[in-house]
Amino acid sequence: MKDIEKNLENNFLISDEVLKWGKPYLDNFSRLMTYYKCATMEIETKFNVLNEEFALQHDRNPINSIKSRIKKPISIKEKLEKNKYPFTVESIEKYLNDVAGLRVVCSFTDDVYMLADALLKQDDITLVEKKDYIKEPKSSGYRSLHLIVEIPIFLSNEKKMMKVEIQLRTIAMDFWATIEHQLKYKKNFRLTKKMERELFMCAQISSHLDEKMNSLKKIIQESSNP
Ligand code: GTP
Ligand code: MG
Repeated sequence: MKDIEKNLENNFLISDEVLKWGKPYLDNFSRLMTYYKCATMEIETKFNVLNEEFALQHDRNPINSIKSRIKKPISIKEKLEKNKYPFTVESIEKYLNDVAGLRVVCSFTDDVYMLADALLKQDDITLVEKKDYIKEPKSSGYRSLHLIVEIPIFLSNEKKMMKVEIQLRTIAMDFWATIEHQLKYKKNFRLTKKMERELFMCAQISSHLDEKMNSLKKIIQESSNP
């Protein structure tokens, strides 16, 4: 979690807009960002627990990696303004679902659904929104399971509900999304329609790869537990 702290600190300092707010408001902003950080820590622990438990039972880890991030002040500002909301601490909590973000990269497609179900069954988790871009990929070809959940964080004198965006995906989905993002946001370059089609085809290949790997896993699983 040290990385997040450093990240937040760096981004916090470079955002002039935030610095202009004045001390009391700045403290509120900083407190809210800390709450989001605590919420991601809670969810990350839940996934680590599920990973350990699964490893005990099945001798393999369903989770390959977990990355977390808190949205930068500049991106928070841009997203609020794009949607015609003022850049205030109140509107961040009210209108944004993805200030706290967690990306869980799994080995197999089955693991994505197994982990999502296991998380959503927990009685302190409330599902706010679910978008299944694995069953219905985006027009770019993007695949992942997105959950917006609410989780309580327990502070010394209060319990606060915080929203967290969770993206669950396989290694193949993550590979595609990472590379596509790098290519798309390259400075001074716009992807042509042909390149977008090629990327879409790459997404289909990655989907085919996931299906093959998932069926191989099933065969191995069934033959070792007849
Ligand atoms: P945003 O305003 O972008 O948050 O849109 P939204 O609220 O409709 O969320 P959406 O379900 O589209 O998911 C947004 C997040 O998913 C992005 O921040 C990316 O991390 C990821 N994502 C969505 N579409 C793509 C895509 O085509 N390519 C890649 N690489 N990532 C994507
Ligand atoms: Mg988003």
